Amino acid sequence: MIRIEKIWRDVLMQTKATEPSFLSGRVNAYYQRSKDPRTGEHFIEGLSPAEGDIQLVSNDYLSIAGHPDVRGARIAALEQSENEMLRSGVFRFGEDSQCVFEEQMADWLSAESTLLSQSGWSANVGLIQSIATPEVPVYLDMFAHMSLWEGAKSAGATPRPFRHNNPGSLEKLVQKHGQGVILVDSIYSTSGTICPLNDMVDIAERYGCILVVDESHSLGVVGERGEGMVSDLGLADRVAFRTASLSKAFAGRGGIIVGSKRHVEYVKYESFPSIFSSGVHDYDIAGFIAAMEVIKKGNARREKLRDNSDFLRQQLDKIGFDVSASQAQIMSLVPGPECETIRLRNALESRGVFGSPFCAPATPKNRSLVRFSVNASVTRASLEKVAEVCAEVRDVVQADQWLSTTKKSRTRPQPKFYVPEPSLAM
Ligand SMILES: Cc1ncc(COP(=O)(O)O)c(C=O)c1O
Repeated sequence: MIRIEKIWRDVLMQTKATEPSFLSGRVNAYYQRSKDPRTGEHFIEGLSPAEGDIQLVSNDYLSIAGHPDVRGARIAALEQSENEMLRSGVFRFGEDSQCVFEEQMADWLSAESTLLSQSGWSANVGLIQSIATPEVPVYLDMFAHMSLWEGAKSAGATPRPFRHNNPGSLEKLVQKHGQGVILVDSIYSTSGTICPLNDMVDIAERYGCILVVDESHSLGVVGERGEGMVSDLGLADRVAFRTASLSKAFAGRGGIIVGSKRHVEYVKYESFPSIFSSGVHDYDIAGFIAAMEVIKKGNARREKLRDNSDFLRQQLDKIGFDVSASQAQIMSLVPGPECETIRLRNALESRGVFGSPFCAPATPKNRSLVRFSVNASVTRASLEKVAEVCAEVRDVVQADQWLSTTKKSRTRPQPKFYVPEPSLAM
């Protein structure tokens, strides 16, 4: 108790007398949220990994960041970059390398057009800001990525959240509030759950809504040539917009917006991040063009990713962690309260296993978690070690008492990776 008081005294003492209350209120809320009141430890900043430690933290799911074609393309472009013109992407048209990339991407995704953005965040915020208005209801899955929520805010629209992966809940809201924009992720970034896309498309069509699917975690990973879940399900013509971060399977720094020619040109010249923020470097674009080819031929990597994910999920399930919601390469241990997640993080890291801790605002409050992102190159031995360590810490962190574990007894786990029909099964 004395220690807690001291930590709070320290934080509050740092408050500058000149700091207005609207700022000190927010800053203090941050300190309250992000540090363990018992120990003062930061929620995100744990140990630094040592050599040999296992890190399931990267979104480079296919493990292509170091691929010689991708690195080679980036290096070659960098070496020719002395005359690179740094400017907003709206000034890039015609034969420009950005347009070459965008055309190849559209072709691959069975779309009319794509637009390269600086990041997945910019793509989502810019797109929603361009297509919604304050009068338009924006229907969001409760687990939709924060950038989609921010896009709704940027448009001044009223967010209308529906229950996670629950088409019935969405339909009721649409019946009540009318035509609008529906925002979903194909694979959700902290739970690894998969969106029932066919149902979402049906509702969007039935009520004349615009459906936006964020494919950040499925692009490159799902489909015969990694073309994502919308294409793989044959829905390319029925989904108005797709977006994706290129910082996952594309192992770079960028984002895309995918849609009809008419809409994509409009968004290019209407979206604020597109107009008012500088575009992507030539060497990144060269890397993306090379990565696309590696990804198209990456069936062996996709298969390895699926095997690795299934293996770890099954191991965690056997030990008694509830990862049954996950159907993909993302799976999370969910202690709930922030201080419990810090305890789990410490227990894992001190034994050489690193995941990514997530807390509010990335998760709902009291639903903080440690996320494991599996990749194609992690070895079976490393995954066994992860499972061993998880088994070892289970009692240390009192996982039996987590809400996510106790809930497990009421639900049937169904470990399953998304298997595209029927191509990847070979
Ligand atoms: C589903 C989803 N959309 C968008 C983003 C934002 O992407 P970026 O990191 O490229 O800004 C992320 C990244 O965490 C994400 O998981």
